[in-house]
Amino acid sequence: MAEPFLIGEAMTGGYGPVDILHSCTIAVEKGEIAVIVGPNGAGKSTAMKAVFGMLNLRQGAVRLGGEDITKLSPQARVRKGMGFVPQTSNIFTSMTVEENLEMGAFIRSDDTIAQTMEQVYDLFPILREKRHQPAGQLSGGQRQQVAVGRALMTQPRVLMLDEPTAGVSPIVMDELFDRIIEIARTGISILMVEQNARQALEIADKGYVLVQGSNRFTDTGKALLADPEVRKSFLGG
Ligand SMILES: Nc1ncnc2c1ncn2[C@@H]1O[C@H](COP(=O)(O)OP(=O)(O)OP(=O)(O)O)[C@@H](O)[C@H]1O
Ligand SMILES: [Mg+2]
Repeated sequence: MAEPFLIGEAMTGGYGPVDILHSCTIAVEKGEIAVIVGPNGAGKSTAMKAVFGMLNLRQGAVRLGGEDITKLSPQARVRKGMGFVPQTSNIFTSMTVEENLEMGAFIRSDDTIAQTMEQVYDLFPILREKRHQPAGQLSGGQRQQVAVGRALMTQPRVLMLDEPTAGVSPIVMDELFDRIIEIARTGISILMVEQNARQALEIADKGYVLVQGSNRFTDTGKALLADPEVRKSFLGG
């Protein structure tokens, strides 16, 4: 089988001497949506941090476009085309929306940053309207749009999102998922952790159910949604 575009392969590691991840594998193809679900504390955020280089792996590897990036810093991975929206503290609340987006472009030195910002505003029109407001004054859903927009400012090849719909209403969640599908259609791979497991698996090409740092189920989103065991244990029946 061909190598996936991004893969964290057989990742083992944690924050200290105790391993959180146990030979955990997460991958996403070009332009596809991969979703990680699982109970609280399963290691979903830890797996995302491992793929982004915020965790020293004891074993395993991370490869992007066939290149081994296991030893690269998060910043070096951003230069390779990875964008990451962490679960918490993912915007600068005292800065305006536009300043947040400008910060997102920090690694770029080309002269098309303004065009990328227009693309972000086209994707999230409310951000254009509120571009001069401090991001901290925005609603939860709008803040998540700022966080996603900030990550898009680096023109990533892979966008990693840790619970992008946390704390938003079902309508706002649906809207955000539609935008995420739109982003994937431009060829950007999406690797996303989601608490709203059922809805997220509906838009997922590939789904991962993590339990205690290990892969419990891996399949297409559709197959996982149809699996009685997955439904019973992880999707509330
Ligand atoms: N910085 C840290 N230092 C030490 N242990 C941590 C740290 N962050 C997380 N852990 C532990 O690692 C385990 C996995 O946590 P993680 O945040 O990856 O889970 P999660 O699946 O993302 O959970 P949630 O659904 O609540 O976001 C938990 O036992 C947690 O207590
Ligand atoms: Mg988490």
